[in-house]
Amino acid sequence: MKDNKLLPSILAADHGRFVKEANTVDLPQIDMLHVDVMDGHFVPNITFGPGVVSSLKRHTRFSLDVHLMIETVDVYIPRFAEAGADIITIHQEANAHLQRSLQLIRECGAKAGIALNPATSLETIKWIYDDLDLVLIMSVNPGFGGQKFIPSSVEKIEALRKDRDQLGYSFIIEVDGGIDKETAPLVFDAGASYLVAGSSIFGKPDRKGAIHDILKAIDKHQSKKKSVYT
Ligand code: DX5
Ligand code: ZN
Repeated sequence: MKDNKLLPSILAADHGRFVKEANTVDLPQIDMLHVDVMDGHFVPNITFGPGVVSSLKRHTRFSLDVHLMIETVDVYIPRFAEAGADIITIHQEANAHLQRSLQLIRECGAKAGIALNPATSLETIKWIYDDLDLVLIMSVNPGFGGQKFIPSSVEKIEALRKDRDQLGYSFIIEVDGGIDKETAPLVFDAGASYLVAGSSIFGKPDRKGAIHDILKAIDKHQSKKKSVYT
């Protein structure tokens, strides 16, 4: 798997044609899709279940990053893993026995992630770093696409990266919510290596052009930085 990724979030695609929509982002730079599962309890919105994950797995070439915004995860983890999820991320705020659920995800053969809402402190996951393959920093409140990026997320990502590196862990840092060509360079710089983008890709008529614009903005920012320091 590539180290840095831009993950189109199919929440912003047409829900009647997920497979067709997913195949509109088929570019060499894209190898994973972000798939938002919502239960109408933990978040005030409902999306879909393992059936959609399974069709995306069968009819596209992408790996699948499944973001569970649901309660009672232990019942559903095996079903999403069986449907083809490569990463399963659960919310810190929705579940009581996080360490056990993370172990269950790994036992089911997927990578295990924890998502933190904007108001949730990094301290809440400090003691379970061993059980994590990924930490998802929410840069909006979960539930809907198209919301405004919360600026304090940049500092939160920086703090998580620092803690991870100092303690010698290697979990992935992912960011989700309000990512576009303006915010992507900032979160990448702060330490996020998986960037989820919904409306800034699927909300545009030219999806491939939108992906190129975001990737170009990151590259431009990085090369500017280099010219300052070299
Ligand atoms: C929000 C979801 C996001 C959503 C992001 O609850 O977790 O993955 O698709 O959408 P944008 O990129 O439009 O903020
Ligand atoms: Zn998401």
